Order: sequence, then structure tokens, then C-alpha cells
Amino acid sequence: MLNSSDSFAQDILQGLSQNPRRLSSTYFYDDLGSALFSEIMNLPEYYLSRSEYEILSQQTDAIFQWLPSGQRLELMELGAGDGTKTLALLNYLMQKGIDFRYIPIDISSAALEKLSSYIHEQLPAAPVFPQTGNYFELLGKQKSSDQPRLILFLGSNIGNFSHQQAISFIRQIKDTMQSHDRLLVGFDLVKHPKMIREAYNDSSGLTKAFNLNLLKRINQEFNGDFDLLQFDHYESYDPELSEARSYLISLKPQIVTLRDLQFSVKFETWDYIHVEVSRKYKPSTLQQLAAQSGFEIETALYDCKHYFTDQLWKPIA
Ligand code: AVJ
Repeated sequence: MLNSSDSFAQDILQGLSQNPRRLSSTYFYDDLGSALFSEIMNLPEYYLSRSEYEILSQQTDAIFQWLPSGQRLELMELGAGDGTKTLALLNYLMQKGIDFRYIPIDISSAALEKLSSYIHEQLPAAPVFPQTGNYFELLGKQKSSDQPRLILFLGSNIGNFSHQQAISFIRQIKDTMQSHDRLLVGFDLVKHPKMIREAYNDSSGLTKAFNLNLLKRINQEFNGDFDLLQFDHYESYDPELSEARSYLISLKPQIVTLRDLQFSVKFETWDYIHVEVSRKYKPSTLQQLAAQSGFEIETALYDCKHYFTDQLWKPIA
């Protein structure tokens, strides 16, 4: 989502050469990966999407209270998503007769097209202006706008970043904002470790397929010979770090070659590739994260089970 395909090759070479081996979860989302993630969002174990949907559809009033009347809202979303959750917001704005433009931003034009046609189907009158490209460039381009802006970064996508990476990411967003703009961010909350682990270790094996798809994608794009049957999925959740981690585990000694990159990598049995971190947050950590990134928390909304939070952040001058 964040990286262009040019750096994909470099990241693979570097990530598979280092110890411990790692591949970035930003590369999960090719067409098949995005389709698999849409299915993950409907899994019984994957509580995140349902919880956030509850917040966005039932507490919508609280989200738009800050909005000054009489001006057109620019609703900008980072990372397209499948539209289900955003639709709840768009529906609300239409019903209230609030003037707005919805501007989804994503590196993948395929994802944007799919999202736009979905929204057009569900809400034909909604004004949608998709933009393909880099988040910060596109946010920065229209910086001097007089219209208030709500920037959406939903789904706990931020959980893929370390605390430091999250701070620098949010600060870059802040640099494009004015005092009448707001950031709406979704965070998955700390909860029983077992429940978190199951969200990433579903009984149907979908998450396993989602993670293995990264190897499949590498095979396709670089003429590789990863044997998907010889790697398994393993998920850990460490309550001390509040981090769920996904690994691909080598089931036998094997050498994998990526012919187009003229690169081979050797795995022993039980060697692993670290492929994703999904961080979970305590409300106190979020206070810190907001302050360290130059924001104050204006509104914090929770689903009825307190699994998830969507927060409206206001930039500090
Ligand atoms: C899209 C990054 C929020 O970390 O929960 C879902 C991705 N990975 N199942 C997450 C994911 C495995 C998801 N995010």
C-alpha cells in the first residue's frame, strides 16, 4: 500500500538476506491479497472490522460534531479499503445534507476503481474523487484549502507500524493539516491474548492463505520457486509488547531461487520469515502517541465490547 513496486525487489533481497528474515506486510495487497483480506474481514474470529463498523455506523453524530457548518467537507481516506465502513459515513453525510467530497487515496488504482464502483452502486449520488499515488504528496498538494478536511486512517492499519514509525507517519500527515482539519484513526485495543491470536489464526485457514500469498506473489513477479506446501503459518501474540506477529515457517531444508533477481536463499527446517506485526493499543498508549505526534484527542469512540476505538484527533498548533 505504501511502497511502489520498484522497491519491492530491493526489499525482498534485503529482507531475505538478513537475520532474522523478514518481508514487509505492505506487499500483501496484490489483487488476490486484497480479495483475501476482504474475506478475512468477514471471519467470525476477525472481530476488528465488525467492531469498527459498529462505531462508524452507530456513533456517526459524534464524529462530525466538530465540523463547522456551511462549508464543504473534504473527506480523504488513506488506503482504500473495501468501502463497507466508509459507506456508513457517506450515508450519514448524505442524509444530513452535508456538502462533501469523498477522496479515497491509494497506491493501487485497481483497488480505487473497485471501491469507487462499489460506492457508486450503493450510493449513486455520492461525489467520489479517487486519487492514485503517494499519501503525503496527495495530501500536501491541496494543503492550502479553505475547506475543512477529515482524514481517515481506519481499520487499525496503523498497527503495522512500530511506535516510532507511527509517530513519524502521523507527523507527516499533520504537516499537511490546518487547525480546522481532523484525523480519524482506528486502533485495535489490547484484550485477552487468546482472542487476538485467534483473529490471526482462524480455523478456516484464510489468514494462512493470505500470508502464503506473499510467497505466491513473489513467485509470480520474480520467477521464483517458493513451494507453498513447504511453508506453514504461525501466529504469536506477546502481551508484553502488545504485538501479534505472523511468521512463515520452513517445513524442510530447502533452497528457494528467484530467477529474475538472480538470488537464492537457503532455509533450514523451522527457519522462519517474519511477515507482519499487528500492534494492539492501550488507551494510555494512545494518549502518548497523540501527544508525541502533535495532536490532542478530541473524541474517543468505542464499540460496546471495547474491542476497538476510533478517535478524532485535533492538530495542536
Ligand atoms: C489491515 C493491517 C489492519 O493487521 O489486522 C489481517 C491485516 N493480517 N489478518 C491487521 C491482517 C492478517 C490487518 N490490517
